[in-house]
Amino acid sequence: MFQSIDYSTLELNPFTTLGNDAFLITAGTLGGWNTMTAAWGSLGYMWNRPIFSIVVRDSRHTYGFVEKAEGFTCSFFSPEWKDALTFCGTHSGRDIDKAAATGLVPVAAAGPGGVERVTFEQANMVFSCTKASRVSFNPGQFAIPGIDTHYPHKDYHCMYIGFIDEILIQTE
Ligand SMILES: Cc1cc2nc3c(=O)[nH]c(=O)nc-3n(C[C@H](O)[C@H](O)[C@H](O)COP(=O)(O)O)c2cc1C
Repeated sequence: MFQSIDYSTLELNPFTTLGNDAFLITAGTLGGWNTMTAAWGSLGYMWNRPIFSIVVRDSRHTYGFVEKAEGFTCSFFSPEWKDALTFCGTHSGRDIDKAAATGLVPVAAAGPGGVERVTFEQANMVFSCTKASRVSFNPGQFAIPGIDTHYPHKDYHCMYIGFIDEILIQTE
């Protein structure tokens, strides 16, 4: 069961929580969703709101879902779900049902105005976000030439800046 907490009470190190532990980006509704593992992103404050920014390459199946959706969730898990996260980060939802393959159980997470978002029963912390803006990375604007080496296939990330509507913590 999830409990909503105020963002001002959140205690975490964003560098280790995102970069080391990784999380699932999920977009869509229970009727049609996709999820993928991510380790890049940022937590911060923008336009007077707390934000969670994610970056999704346009080659990902998840990309189309995030593009279409009004929001997304970022779901974190305890270490026992590491294999499931590795699976969701090395397989595409185009080819396989990630929930069936990993045992992750999709559940609805309500967004503002009753919109439906998707997270997983086993998550221990969930950020439910409204897409506030998108920024397509333009290689011409990379200030350091080495950054381009992250894109041998030219599938540049799109950054989605999400207003954090709710932070859910697992209570069971
Ligand atoms: C630890 C880890 C972190 C990842 N971080 C990102 C990321 O931040 N952005 C991204 O576009 N892909 C990232 N990926 C790759 C996607 O998760 C992977 O390509 C996935 O299979 C895409 O699934 P989809 O095609 O169903 O969307 C990461 C993969 C792993 C294993």
